[in-house]
Amino acid sequence: MQTTSPKAADEFELYRAILENQLTALLWVGARQELHYLNPAAETLLQLDARRVLGRPLALILPAAAEFTTALMRASTEFIAFTQRELRLTVGEDGAAVTVDCTATPVAERAPPAPLLVELTPLDRHLRITRDDALMAQHAANRMLACNLAHEVRNPLGGLRGAAQLLERRLPDETLKEYTRVILREADRLTRLVEAILGPVQPPRRTRLNIHELLEQVISLVQAEAPAGVTLRRDYDPSLPELLLDRDQLVQALLNLARNALEAVGDEGRILFRSRVLRQFTLGNRCHRLVACVEIADDGPGVPSALLPRIFTPLVTGRPGGTGLGLSIAQELVNRHGGLIECLSRPGETVFSVLLPLDETP
Ligand SMILES: Nc1ncnc2c1ncn2[C@@H]1O[C@H](COP(=O)(O)OP(=O)(O)OP(=O)(O)O)[C@@H](O)[C@H]1O
Ligand SMILES: [Mg+2]
Repeated sequence: MQTTSPKAADEFELYRAILENQLTALLWVGARQELHYLNPAAETLLQLDARRVLGRPLALILPAAAEFTTALMRASTEFIAFTQRELRLTVGEDGAAVTVDCTATPVAERAPPAPLLVELTPLDRHLRITRDDALMAQHAANRMLACNLAHEVRNPLGGLRGAAQLLERRLPDETLKEYTRVILREADRLTRLVEAILGPVQPPRRTRLNIHELLEQVISLVQAEAPAGVTLRRDYDPSLPELLLDRDQLVQALLNLARNALEAVGDEGRILFRSRVLRQFTLGNRCHRLVACVEIADDGPGVPSALLPRIFTPLVTGRPGGTGLGLSIAQELVNRHGGLIECLSRPGETVFSVLLPLDETP
């Protein structure tokens, strides 16, 4: 008896061809952490032979990657997607290391522990460095343009407001004053916008701070605004040393990111505040021995793909009522500390990473 129709067999072949030809390494890990599938890209990257490893627990297959396998186990049991950038994995018998961006997504609808789809993207360091450079240069150019424009608008705005006030005093008819009030109200709204674009003017006043303390301050502010269905979670690396930071500026930057996450998840969702130390990490064109990484991740719908390349540009917004300044200001404040904000986003998972060099700290 034939169990598979020719059409189903064709489809199976198609899916198989798609998986087998992916450049991203893909693994399917069962609920008990046993490896069910790996595509050829994963075999090459992890130096494994599918015939020898399938069905075996991942912890035995990759004995030198305990942190990775523990994180996967947690993703499976807690049913929460796990992302780690620049993860170093020791593979093969000679202890070679590969650096990858890793995402693990729990896939079943039933109760955890869930099977996981693990995606590993080998990192081409050169590409990442170029991207950071481009991001920083683009941000600086955008900001300069916006600030110049804001400057030009600010002065005539003052004149406009003053003239409207004078006119208002001389108007004989009360009903006509309605028009001058519109001018004054709109001039005030534009002044607020211009001031927000110009941003905080003072250079950072740095003191030695524990970044987790700042995160707690941000969490308590966001908690007060969050609907009941939104859970805020923490995953801190206690080994993160203190940093020299301007408290108000960093809180402002983190708050802008956290508020965006809150707006993205709506009435129900999860926001994760996570900290890590990254070693030998390049920001712009400088390689830093240690970099602090603070991530704010949410499980909302993700940044619309058309918007993603431009979200740090001033006045770019995808929200009705948004001013499109939150991310541009956050990027500016973090840049002033020698750092950078990056974003990775897809439906169900958006991660904003604030990267701050630790060795800048004298
Ligand atoms: N976590 C997120 N998930 C999905 N989209 C996001 C997220 N964060 C930012 N965005 C998108 O990026 C846009 C720009 O964000 P930004 O904070 O700069 O401006 P805004 O939130 O629109 O306005 P505001 O100036 O009030 O912050 C948002 O409008 C939204 O479309
Ligand atoms: Mg915002």
